[in-house]
Amino acid sequence: MDIKITKTKNSKLKDIDFNNIPFGKYTSDHMFIMDYANEKWGDFRIIPYQSLQLDPQSKALQYCQCIFEGMKATIGADGIPKLLRPDLNMERFNLSAERMCMPAVPADLFLSALKAITSLEINWIPKAEGSALYLRPTMVATESSLGVTPSSTYTFYIYTAPAQPYFSTPTKLITEQTLIRAVPGGTGEAKTGGNYAGSLKASELAKQKGFDQVIWLESPKFKKIQEAGMMNLFFVIGDTVVTPALSGAILKGTTRTYFLDILKEKNIKVEVRDIYIDEIIEAYQQGNLTEAFGSGTAAVVSHISEITHGDICMKLANAEKAEISNMLYQEINGLRAGTIEDKRNWLVPVF
Ligand SMILES: Cc1ncc(COP(=O)(O)O)c(C=O)c1O
Repeated sequence: MDIKITKTKNSKLKDIDFNNIPFGKYTSDHMFIMDYANEKWGDFRIIPYQSLQLDPQSKALQYCQCIFEGMKATIGADGIPKLLRPDLNMERFNLSAERMCMPAVPADLFLSALKAITSLEINWIPKAEGSALYLRPTMVATESSLGVTPSSTYTFYIYTAPAQPYFSTPTKLITEQTLIRAVPGGTGEAKTGGNYAGSLKASELAKQKGFDQVIWLESPKFKKIQEAGMMNLFFVIGDTVVTPALSGAILKGTTRTYFLDILKEKNIKVEVRDIYIDEIIEAYQQGNLTEAFGSGTAAVVSHISEITHGDICMKLANAEKAEISNMLYQEINGLRAGTIEDKRNWLVPVF
């Protein structure tokens, strides 16, 4: 793939304090961009980070025909930037594209674009352990027409944002029993903006009540657990780690996949199945719920300190005692930092 590179004349790098980079606050100097027309991708370029020109009537803006991914590039002791299992993100992106009637981005093209932008922005990758360059591949429908039909033209871009270690504080969750994020057959498995817009109200209501996020339950019974906010959920019940089976309404988290693979490899008992809130309450009341945590790209692990369901409040042990989630966190962090050997070949160097 031939990528035309136009470098910025005015780098923002000198203005960044790498000791203070809140997640997603700053974007780097450049972005990769390409366009889709006449059923093929073309015009591959890297340009200074800038606004897009979108027609007010574009299908991305009117009908939310748009998708994205979130992933991290990290730099270990050898100085070579690496991506962790980018195949999982590329696969999920193309599943999102398929669901939203958008064209696929071929894996070789996608990976070349990820490598090209990460290599160019190497100086934007924070070096401190646990920090990363966050990459946001995005596709938007650019055709201007009012008909509710798939666009014939698209723009794909990848922008990047440096991120310092994201230590999530123990999270307080409340189950949501009125609003829903997704139902099987809907778009919950796709990473598309509408799912996030639709989740805002429940999050805001939870925050007003003093919680960090909601646990989504499947309608109409509001018993089956889906996920929480922007993370997949894991529970440790007795000697078994349990996580909800993908139901068509849950995002297939990449971190969830890393965790399942590591747990199986370490012969820790794992069950991927339907989980109901009543079962969690029962395990808690019997003293068998030893850990609950969320998984996601931003924090890797979010310890859950409290789950409220109606008038039942379950308080969980301190994060330091959470053996399984701490082990998983250290595996992923150590792998990225280069302190744990990459025996599984999960890391993909960008050059
Ligand atoms: C709704 C939702 N669920 C789960 C996740 C976790 O996915 P991942 O581990 O790929 O970051 C995310 C993160 O983007 C999310 O937005």
